[in-house]
Amino acid sequence: MGSFEEVMQKNATAKFIATVLVGGVIVGVSLYGLLQSSEGLQKNLEPLGLWKRRRKKKNKTIRVYMDGCFDMMHYGHCNALRQARALGDELVVGVVSDDEIIANKGPPVTPLEERMIMVNAVKWVDEVITDAPYAITEEFMQKLFNEYNIDYIIHGDDPCILPDGTDAYAHAKKAGRYKQIKRTEGVSSTDIVGRMLLCTRERSPSENPNHSSLQRQFSHGHSHKFEDGGTRISQFMPTSRRIVQFSNGRGPGPDARIVYIDGAFDLFHAGHVEILKLARELGDFLLVGIHTDQTVSETRGPHRPIMNLHERSLSVLACRYVDEVIIGAPWEVSRDMITTFNISLVVHGTIAENDDFQKEESNPYAVPISMGIFRVLVSPLGITTTTIIRRIVSNHEAFQKRNEKKGESEKRYYESKTHIHGD
Ligand SMILES: *[C@@H]1O[C@H](CO)[C@@H](O)[C@H](O)[C@H]1NC(C)=O
Ligand SMILES: *[C@@H]1O[C@H](CO)[C@@H](O)[C@H](O)[C@H]1NC(C)=O
Ligand SMILES: *[C@@H]1O[C@H](CO)[C@@H](O)[C@H](O)[C@H]1NC(C)=O
Repeated sequence: MGSFEEVMQKNATAKFIATVLVGGVIVGVSLYGLLQSSEGLQKNLEPLGLWKRRRKKKNKTIRVYMDGCFDMMHYGHCNALRQARALGDELVVGVVSDDEIIANKGPPVTPLEERMIMVNAVKWVDEVITDAPYAITEEFMQKLFNEYNIDYIIHGDDPCILPDGTDAYAHAKKAGRYKQIKRTEGVSSTDIVGRMLLCTRERSPSENPNHSSLQRQFSHGHSHKFEDGGTRISQFMPTSRRIVQFSNGRGPGPDARIVYIDGAFDLFHAGHVEILKLARELGDFLLVGIHTDQTVSETRGPHRPIMNLHERSLSVLACRYVDEVIIGAPWEVSRDMITTFNISLVVHGTIAENDDFQKEESNPYAVPISMGIFRVLVSPLGITTTTIIRRIVSNHEAFQKRNEKKGESEKRYYESKTHIHGD
């Protein structure tokens, strides 16, 4: 007996019968399609204001849209997505493709595939689309409104000017379908690149003299100053409210199986996301221990971490697979800790910068190993914080050009900045 498809191919009669059989369905679908497209037609003909009023009556979920490159994603991006999500019921995020980024500002550090993993992992994101243009066009806006059923386009408070000098969001603003959120102070990708280059420059100052000029360029910016020794002072000022905003605010339920994973989680990347996802699947509640800045420096070198403890904690908290974090976890997983948090399983990824822990004189996982509750997880992606730093350094000239431009616009932003209410 052949498969249904084979019979269909060989026999036209059977094809006809099959068509009749599914005919009802097809008629139903086309009627639905007709209704959909006539509604779309109406939308195009009607003044946008009228359409909006009509829609509101339907009491539907409000879909909001925000786009970006999300290259070297940090908690500033996460906070923007959180604010955007709070303006509606569903958040659709447009991630700009590699080609569009290359054409507009040079190669991204993280390829689209990784950027998608990062954006999808943010707990306030409901849907991700990848055909977002670098600068929003009127055509794409219509597509958002008509095809993706977006109610509002959300953008930060930095102006978005098209090459012809006009406001990219003028149309959406006029239609009353634009909302603005406040930019998260204290960090930008430019700033992070600066920190990384500083870290590599100090490791080998004579290797590449360009790093020092690049670092100078970052250092007279708004975001950070350097002490004589070159140590970074973060300008990030975490508040208790921000941590609450990022938290799930829930403890484990009764009888929950608690999984524990610890690490630096510096420059939170797709490799981290994938291992956290795996770890979460092994239980009901994922507790993540984030090592202190001091612990990270002691184990990975004086210029690590790139991101401080609070910054690293916020990035991890924004991840949908994480239930809770310990802000400043000890290096060793002690028996007391296992009892306090009722930890059922301790895991560690195979791709980690401290994967030689078994050889150390004091294995931090000795206790869970002796209790038989330790497991090594095979990391799905071979990315570490060092990988990310290497990418930046090998690309530094392209970044230099790009950051010169960006530095200018950031400087202008900070010079003209006024207080905007929002959180
Ligand atoms: C709209 O929906 C919400 C919940 O989905 C409901 O509580 C509310 O009463 C609805 N409003 C109207 C006008 O139907
Ligand atoms: C440093 O930058 C200049 C131009 O900015 C370039 O010509 C030179 O090759 C660079 N040097 C190194 C070592 O990358
Ligand atoms: C501790 O975790 C186990 C699951 O591993 C669970 O069965 C038990 O109820 C938990 N204990 C408490 C006090 O929640």
